[in-house]
Amino acid sequence: MNSRYDGSTKLHEAFKQQFLIGAAVNPMTMISQRELLAYHFNSITAENEMKFERLHPAENQYTFDEADRLMGFAKANDMAVRGHTLVWHNQTSDWVFKNRSGGIIDRETLLARMKAHIDTVVTRYKGDIYAWDVVNEAVSDNGGELLRSSKWLDIIGDDFIAKAFEFAHAADPEALLFYNDYNESVPEKREKIYTLVKSLKDKDVPIHGIGLQAHWSLEHPNLDDIRQAIERYASLGMKLHITEMDVSVFRHEDRRTDLKAPTEEMLARQAERYQLFFQLFKEYSECITSVTFWGGADDYTWLDHFPVRGRKNWPFIFDTEQLPKQSFWNVMDVAQS
Ligand code: GLA
Repeated sequence: MNSRYDGSTKLHEAFKQQFLIGAAVNPMTMISQRELLAYHFNSITAENEMKFERLHPAENQYTFDEADRLMGFAKANDMAVRGHTLVWHNQTSDWVFKNRSGGIIDRETLLARMKAHIDTVVTRYKGDIYAWDVVNEAVSDNGGELLRSSKWLDIIGDDFIAKAFEFAHAADPEALLFYNDYNESVPEKREKIYTLVKSLKDKDVPIHGIGLQAHWSLEHPNLDDIRQAIERYASLGMKLHITEMDVSVFRHEDRRTDLKAPTEEMLARQAERYQLFFQLFKEYSECITSVTFWGGADDYTWLDHFPVRGRKNWPFIFDTEQLPKQSFWNVMDVAQS
């Protein structure tokens, strides 16, 4: 290969004793970031292409073209694939919850639809997708409530989560099955996720891991909270995957839209944070077996224009030219220390 990445140490090789290094990809970045992805990463996840609405837009219609293309990309580049995601309250087609006359369906019908979806999707990629985010974001961010209100919960009841894991396990008994969520390091939410996963384990539900999304920023969460989350989840005997990592350069309250590039200060702080995060991941690499970024480089991120319209963000360790930032070198230092 004659490429601008030739010769330098590959990120995934630097961490080969610890964990896989992954990136979320989409049909556009599989082209625009192809060389970067093939060089530094050994795992991918579909940013959107394996979500319910994309794979199963109507009851008798499955659309696998884009997901299959992603599988081909992984195979060609010898990469692992994390499946994302089977059951979620978002990006799920409306037909799933409705009958022909537009009314809400009953529990048994919804369970049958869930099972059909999971069977079809998991079986199609059996042996090629080694881990699935089976249920995404079921835990509530609000006060005393454990599970967020959703059509899955309202129609099926609490055991929709256990059922999803059972269906996935039946479809591919070898696949590692994850519960995945954000705000995973916030103490109150952490305890709810712990409670949920413990209750699944106590009922012998086939769950193997917890996905920590890790949508973080320059100040939040603090390192101590992340460490405690890792320890708490690991105490359940779960494998841990960092599943959607990005480090926003803006504070949550920051609404400025005037920046054309990140400031030196932001980049320095980001590099410092990435170093601390990877030190922690390395320290816990007995239980952390994969670290996936929610993108490849700063030229494309879902955080552009979200949550603030007209604002770009620079959350990764490669810049808009897909070249290493100080964050990359700091992460490499951790690998080599
Ligand atoms: C959540 C989901 C992801 C993705 C991000 C935003 O974290 O799990 O699939 O939609 O939001 O890109």
